[in-house]
Amino acid sequence: MSKAFLIAPSILSADFARLGEEIRAVEKAGADWVHVDVMDGHFVPNLTLGAPIVKCLRSVTEKPLDVHLMIEEPHRYIEDFAKAGADYLTIHVESRSNIADTLAAIRDLGVRPGITLKPSTPLSDIDPYLQMVDLVLVMTVNPGFGGQSFMQGQVKKITELRRRFQGQSGAPLIEVDGGVNDQTVHQLKDVDVLVAGSFIFKSNDYKQKINQLKGAQ
Ligand code: DX5
Ligand code: ZN
Repeated sequence: MSKAFLIAPSILSADFARLGEEIRAVEKAGADWVHVDVMDGHFVPNLTLGAPIVKCLRSVTEKPLDVHLMIEEPHRYIEDFAKAGADYLTIHVESRSNIADTLAAIRDLGVRPGITLKPSTPLSDIDPYLQMVDLVLVMTVNPGFGGQSFMQGQVKKITELRRRFQGQSGAPLIEVDGGVNDQTVHQLKDVDVLVAGSFIFKSNDYKQKINQLKGAQ
């Protein structure tokens, strides 16, 4: 028996000139979380936003702010994001910070820690950290840009994680990010949280898109 998906629209595809309105619109359309993509131009070849924007988002929504750090040295910034009001801080296992120390520091800051991995990284690389996190994010595109195609080969990581977490009380949530839409969602039954950027924000009916994802469960 599966639970309903939580839907986390990724603001990367939103209209940044009207960010507050966009957040309120997805909230009204049934979004459960707000997914925030932080990129530093080093870890990924794109630059987005930092803690000051997260602070602004915090003032317009009470939904959990799910902050995905695609940055080389996350330990240098976690305090800023915690103070800005992040609820989840997810770091990449490929980043250059000490992963265990950074996850522990995130929890000490009163924020829920998450771990994620690029499509080319084996699941075994995150094994040592699964006990330390509240969220495991499986990337189904190469991080850096919205609007890319779903990488089907990554679904087996989700299946394997669900198998491992079966019957485990307090197991981390499984989240998927990249290329999620009405065509790909059917492969994602084992997931708890769906991130969707372009599928929602590039449409003119956010509610219909969110309902389509929720209805697929
Ligand atoms: C990509 C980001 C994603 C992105 C997803 O690096 O982590 O959150 O916004 O966009 P879509 O849903 O368009 O693939
Ligand atoms: Zn993301």
